[in-house]
Amino acid sequence: MATNGTVGHVNGQANGNGTVAPYRYTHAYLRKARPLRIAIIGCGVSGIAAVHMFKERFRAPGQDLPIELVIYEKNKSIGGTWYENRYPGCSCDVPSHSYTFSWDGNPYFSRVYVGAPELYDYFTDRAEAYGVPEFVRLQHQFESATWNNATGQYELTVKDLATGTLVEDKAEVVINASGVLNSWKWPDFPGLETFAGKHTSADLSGKTVGVVGTGSSGIQLVPQVQAVAKHMRVAARRYSARSR
Ligand SMILES: *[C@@H]1O[C@H](CO)[C@@H](O)[C@H](O)[C@H]1NC(C)=O
Ligand SMILES: *[C@@H]1O[C@H](CO)[C@@H](O)[C@H](O)[C@H]1NC(C)=O
Ligand SMILES: *[C@@H]1O[C@H](CO)[C@@H](O)[C@H](O)[C@H]1NC(C)=O
Repeated sequence: MATNGTVGHVNGQANGNGTVAPYRYTHAYLRKARPLRIAIIGCGVSGIAAVHMFKERFRAPGQDLPIELVIYEKNKSIGGTWYENRYPGCSCDVPSHSYTFSWDGNPYFSRVYVGAPELYDYFTDRAEAYGVPEFVRLQHQFESATWNNATGQYELTVKDLATGTLVEDKAEVVINASGVLNSWKWPDFPGLETFAGKHTSADLSGKTVGVVGTGSSGIQLVPQVQAVAKHMRVAARRYSARSR
């Protein structure tokens, strides 16, 4: 907590030669809230959870704390992973019940490993319930944050994707909820840059399809695509320990 610089009270302690050392203290009571702005990068599962926690902590009935919250989300919708991933068969790779907020289970899931649309519905529905729309700025892509030690704030630059303009903001707290798997890169296939096909949500019926990898996405994708593809080949580095 910053002191306001006012000389409050002289504590009366003499230093031995008769003079009194001025003692400064802040004119604030213990735990007095100071204005604070929290900025969150990304409104997927973590961004949505953050609003719930923010309200619980700072917006309890009777509280009037000067704490602000803003969430910058690059996409046109909240939901993160469950909005962005559109590949055939995309679903949860842990049982869906363990993929809900711990305080807000969902007894209505249709099966054990539900698909992306059902998870998207659950999380966007919870987001409405927590009041996320009040805090989120859609189509705002985080660009940079620079700590200003003199003001004790991050100086943020965010790009408004709808207009292409840069927006400046300041926040004492920045939470990176952008998702550990969201900065993926294309594999280094020669010729990839001249590929004219679609990269996501393509109609694969009658096509010859190659799949590289048998992780959870491969497991979800292959059963869906093999049913419509003309021919499919899956490349696995080796059998997994599980398949022995
Ligand atoms: C989400 O935003 C990113 C970055 O602008 C973009 O590449 C991606 O296509 C968007 N996803 C959807 C589903 O619109
Ligand atoms: C940062 O600010 C604090 C408080 O004003 C000051 O004590 C500290 O020396 C500063 N650090 C740097 C690296 O400037
Ligand atoms: C946020 O987290 C992602 C994933 O860990 C990382 O790639 C990115 O650099 C982080 N951004 C900032 C501003 O810390």
